[in-house]
Amino acid sequence: MAGSKPPLHGPRYAQIAGWGMAVPEKVVTNADLARTIDTTDEWIVSHTGIKERRVAGDKESTFSLAVRAAREALLVASLQPSRLDLVIVATVTPEYFFPSTASLVQDAIGAAYAGAYDLSAGCSGFIYALNQAANAVRSGSAEHVLVIGSETLTRFIDWTDRNTCVLFGDGAGAVVVSACAERCGIMASVLGSDGSGGDLLIVPGGGSHSPPSHEMLDRGDQYCKMNGREVYRFAATIMPRATEAAVQKAGWQLADLSLVIPHQANVRIIEAAIKRLNLPVDRFFINIDRYGNTSSASIPIALCEAIAAGRVNQGDRMVLVGFGAGLTWAAVAVEWGVPEPTKPRPWFLRWVAEIWYFLAGIRSTARRTERHFYDRVMGPEGADGLRGDLRQRTDRMRLRIAGSTQRPAQPTPPKNLPAPPPPKQDSPDGDHGSTPPK
Ligand code: ACO
Repeated sequence: MAGSKPPLHGPRYAQIAGWGMAVPEKVVTNADLARTIDTTDEWIVSHTGIKERRVAGDKESTFSLAVRAAREALLVASLQPSRLDLVIVATVTPEYFFPSTASLVQDAIGAAYAGAYDLSAGCSGFIYALNQAANAVRSGSAEHVLVIGSETLTRFIDWTDRNTCVLFGDGAGAVVVSACAERCGIMASVLGSDGSGGDLLIVPGGGSHSPPSHEMLDRGDQYCKMNGREVYRFAATIMPRATEAAVQKAGWQLADLSLVIPHQANVRIIEAAIKRLNLPVDRFFINIDRYGNTSSASIPIALCEAIAAGRVNQGDRMVLVGFGAGLTWAAVAVEWGVPEPTKPRPWFLRWVAEIWYFLAGIRSTARRTERHFYDRVMGPEGADGLRGDLRQRTDRMRLRIAGSTQRPAQPTPPKNLPAPPPPKQDSPDGDHGSTPPK
């Protein structure tokens, strides 16, 4: 599934080779909300298209949802986590300020050779991350990148504020982006930002501008504040523009698109985009009724459901497009490269994966335990005598072991090989294309 191995020199493409999603079990319907705030099912459905949303339980978090989605994506890609070069988690609701949620995921799945970082670009975050993954793969700096969008926005919502609490839900979606030699995958990207609209959608407290304090909490600044009408106006214009720009950059026509997967924030915003783009409604995938706005997770969750519904086939041309806090917007043009329907993974692969994750857990626990007890057992650094000497030797040994956690060097091309040819005109878009759509 991870695609045919691309040559060392020559065109490299970045295709989506695996996908997975995870949502909390707890469903909160509009009727449930109408019992606690001044709203109705009729108002929420007619103004947003949302009927219900998923809300993380006590034991769920951005990290745990991300891990579940990642495991599914790796299973579909039939990829051992140790082959990942990079883990990117797009999120506005990270597990902690630091460490990054991506590092926690990297540890939990046993991606021992992968770099890891979080990316924050509002609800456009997943597309930003996809663009970075594609660039890393096409440039040859990575073979396989795990891209996750994971959010628990309901933890940053004032459940008494009817303007925001009806809109958001929790969830995670993940894809594996892998190098391949066939022309397919992520063909063009458009990223944009207009920071002058930063105050339109903001969690004002808790950061360095307004660190946690009793006053900050009393003002309720730990919760999301939104100027809904302005965000709506921005979104209804930027979604079609970004879609058009991505299509143009890929060298396609709008009519070539068999599917558009828009960020699921409000069905009316999607309807406005459909009207402006003048495309048939059935070319758009909409699942906002069941999940609400899951921010960075909304597009990968919709992608997974579109695939499961048989709406994605090999050779299809599609656009994934989002907008969000920042303000930001982003779109990618994707030519689907994986044959559909995918064969169900044999049961034993699931077992192998379970054993892998169990061992990854043991590895992680062993490292923590070792760190915890090492100083106590070995004594202070630089001490004299037998204990100090033993510590020095053990430190050297630990350094050697740490060095061996680097992946064995990749084969390098022979020195007398001719230089790679310059990229062709029709090669996939390598830059992040920040040109704002007209
Ligand atoms: N139930 C009942 N009435 C409500 C509710 C509710 N849940 N929420 C607002 N209202 C009321 C308002 O108080 C207002 O009453 P008033 O006229 O007496 O003042 C009335 O409904 C109309 O309010 P509007 O704000 O004009 O409603 P609108 O049709 O614009 O819909 C909405 C509001 C749904 C928030 C819409 O503006 C929207 O979807 N905006 C975009 C939001 C968005 O996409 N955010 C996510 C960005 S992505 C990210 O990065 C997280």
